[in-house]
Amino acid sequence: MHLQQPNHICVRSNRDRIVRGLCSVAAVILLVGCSTRMIEKKAVELDAVKLDVLGVRLFLYPGVYPPDMSSVFLLKNVEINYGDEVLDLGTGTGIQAIFAARRARRVVATDIDPLAVENARDNVAYHGLEGKIEVRQGDLFEPISPDERFDVIIFSPCFPREVPEDTNEILNGTFTDRCWDVTLRFFSGAEGHLKEGGRIFYLMGFEANMPHVRRIIAENELRIKDSSAVLLDEVMYAVFELTPLRAGD
Ligand SMILES: C[S@@+](CC[C@H](N)C(=O)[O-])C[C@H]1O[C@@H](n2cnc3c(N)ncnc32)[C@H](O)[C@@H]1O
Repeated sequence: MHLQQPNHICVRSNRDRIVRGLCSVAAVILLVGCSTRMIEKKAVELDAVKLDVLGVRLFLYPGVYPPDMSSVFLLKNVEINYGDEVLDLGTGTGIQAIFAARRARRVVATDIDPLAVENARDNVAYHGLEGKIEVRQGDLFEPISPDERFDVIIFSPCFPREVPEDTNEILNGTFTDRCWDVTLRFFSGAEGHLKEGGRIFYLMGFEANMPHVRRIIAENELRIKDSSAVLLDEVMYAVFELTPLRAGD
């Protein structure tokens, strides 16, 4: 009798554990189901556009940058290793962050636009990824703490439409343009948030911008490890994979 009791207890506690586990899984499915329906309802109220990007459902709220062919080109050129910590700057709908989360251990996604932040948060919740992706609001690295570092930083800023003759005009601030300003500030801050061996994936549009971008990259002591370019509707886009220049490189 005494000998049998522990077996009984053992069988019951194993069964309890399984039941408790199944209940937790059911609760999570229920919660995800609820938030999915709430977001679908909100999307209808906001007159959001329902998108299918490479088989992934994304809602696009009015006023937020729409994922376009250049977003997909960037998506296809970003390489994430299993376990990477990723920073997706200027996330828009959250597209890059959501795809990065397939392999990444943790993703921080930011945007300066509060509407984009809300849109990205809802898309993240729709896919049940709140445990992996954190969406923060702010200008470039402002919402990132000074000691926070990442294996990968992804950024596609707005593309400057005005181009000076000489890159020095951008570098010394005599040629003022919001998109060049964001690009300059991005490159001066990026290395400080990269881990050893970290990579930057940066997308730029328009052929005329490329020589200036290459010079700005070099001025910030970054090395172009790889680059891919494409013509989409007769506009050139290039993704640069960058790593910090080390002494001796
Ligand atoms: C060209 S869209 C790219 C959106 C998205 N990453 C994609 O691949 O479709 C640029 C995004 O960067 C955001 N942005 C612009 N300036 C920013 C800044 N200074 N800091 C953070 N985000 C910024 C914009 O609000 C916009 O959502």
